[in-house]
Amino acid sequence: VTRQTGPDERRAVLLIAKSAFAAAPHADMARIAGDMAERQPDAVVHYAFTEQGTPSLKEALRTLVQDGCTHITIVPLVLPMEPSFQTWLQKVLRRWRNEDARPWPQIAITTPIAASPAMSALLDDLMVSSVPFDLTADPKSLSEGSLVPAQKRRVLVCQGGPCNAAGADAIWCHLRNEQQRLKLRTAGDGTMTAKSTCLGPCNLAPVMQVFPEGTYYGGVTEAAVDRIIAEHLLGGSVVDDFAYHPTGRKQRLRLPRPLLSSNA
Ligand code: FES
Repeated sequence: VTRQTGPDERRAVLLIAKSAFAAAPHADMARIAGDMAERQPDAVVHYAFTEQGTPSLKEALRTLVQDGCTHITIVPLVLPMEPSFQTWLQKVLRRWRNEDARPWPQIAITTPIAASPAMSALLDDLMVSSVPFDLTADPKSLSEGSLVPAQKRRVLVCQGGPCNAAGADAIWCHLRNEQQRLKLRTAGDGTMTAKSTCLGPCNLAPVMQVFPEGTYYGGVTEAAVDRIIAEHLLGGSVVDDFAYHPTGRKQRLRLPRPLLSSNA
């Protein structure tokens, strides 16, 4: 379905998926975006990733804002879609919008894929296209063994409920993309990253912990990740603006988080 574009409107469609590590899923997204562009000839169509892969959702949005888009429709290609995904998406969009002084476009988010009446037709099509799977083929051999990582630093990004609702996916996405861009696995003492279940101080969400010191960081944003990379992972100094140390008393976030208290 296409809609009429006003004379001053500049429309965009942004397809979002969670992760893409290899070339094939990137190619899938490019193909789907090409299909969408044919169906929405009056809109520019981009795609982005929320957990890992480039461009990240934030990067893609910034490009569209920069290009002067007046309306952006976000299409989450996520199945099934957890309610927490919708919650953090709304919160993180509001946070990014508040961090950016430029005029922002009107943003719409499509309903979850599973709610589409076209789902039955898609399932029928998938059944027709199924191919037999060879259960007797040998799986890839693991006999080569594994290297034990030499990296001395570890970053855990909490993915517990409160952290997810506070935008932990976006933090993970930014950290992983920066890890790749800055070659953090080999830079300095070497850094590895991992997702974690609840790290403890949920009221400081989103929470990250950096080892070997075990430093807790709370209220983490993309800008905080950038500083933690530069000053802590590469520079060896704890970033006190975002660090929370054990005191034996309950602690609250020190920095204002106007968006996280909104009615998302
Ligand atoms: S859910 Fe992240 S610290 Fe508890």
